[in-house]
Amino acid sequence: TTTTHPDLVDQARRAQRGLGAFNVVLLEHAEAIVAGAERAELPVVLQISHNAARYHGGLEPIALASLALARAASVPAIVHLDHAEDVALVELAVSLGVHSVMFDGSALPYDENVATTRSVVDLCHANGVRVEAELGEVGGKDGVHAPGVRTRPEEAAAFVAATGVDSLAVAVGTSHAMTSRVATVDRSLVGELAAAVEVPLVLHGSSGLSDDELIAAVHAGMTKINISTHLNGLFTGAVRDALSADTALVDPRKYIAPGREAVAVEVARILRLLAS
Ligand code: G3H
Ligand code: ZN
Repeated sequence: TTTTHPDLVDQARRAQRGLGAFNVVLLEHAEAIVAGAERAELPVVLQISHNAARYHGGLEPIALASLALARAASVPAIVHLDHAEDVALVELAVSLGVHSVMFDGSALPYDENVATTRSVVDLCHANGVRVEAELGEVGGKDGVHAPGVRTRPEEAAAFVAATGVDSLAVAVGTSHAMTSRVATVDRSLVGELAAAVEVPLVLHGSSGLSDDELIAAVHAGMTKINISTHLNGLFTGAVRDALSADTALVDPRKYIAPGREAVAVEVARILRLLAS
């Protein structure tokens, strides 16, 4: 590839370490993710989903803010477009200077997923941007959990060869948006997938995993570990506590700051866990 940005995901795979990738929902998440990574003195991925861009009415403001924070960080930090569902958003992300993108064609028929992902790879690699794709749909985005879905190793190898992606999200037992950490990772399948494909593997829906399962997933061969819901639970809990402790609060900074701090503390803790 013609990649010019440092690639944290490849570096993590080579070092056999997990790399935490956390979702930016509000500006404060981006601040907290960088603060947590700096406290842990470890690299980090800030990721912005298509849905988060929709929430903000567009990708540009939140992406540029995240890029500014990543650039100013004292640790390696990259900004990634997460779960992009159309090529136009990928084009915008590339023009804004994001470091990597995920094109999510997991709900498409296999041939269409291959063809569209291939075109995204061509566009991105020409601009030094790395591409993550998904094969075997990690459910839960629509509220329907499907932890039984599995990515087949032979199909994963064929998909990587046919598309030229730089990393691959696989279905190995997790599901998006779980609010309790009770999922388990199919470790033997992770081992088979890691042996079958050369590119780093990405775990989505990692909020459903306990600390022990997160460590086991990395040891089995997962590299980029995506976490969103778990941090949002802590953020919202801290905001709720602050609001109930003082019902006269008016300044949003007084109740949002505790949420931001709760996220920073947990990001630092999880990054250390994944790197251990
Ligand atoms: O792409 C984002 C992740 O897969 C986050 O999933 O909210 O279940 O942690 P989660
Ligand atoms: Zn995801």
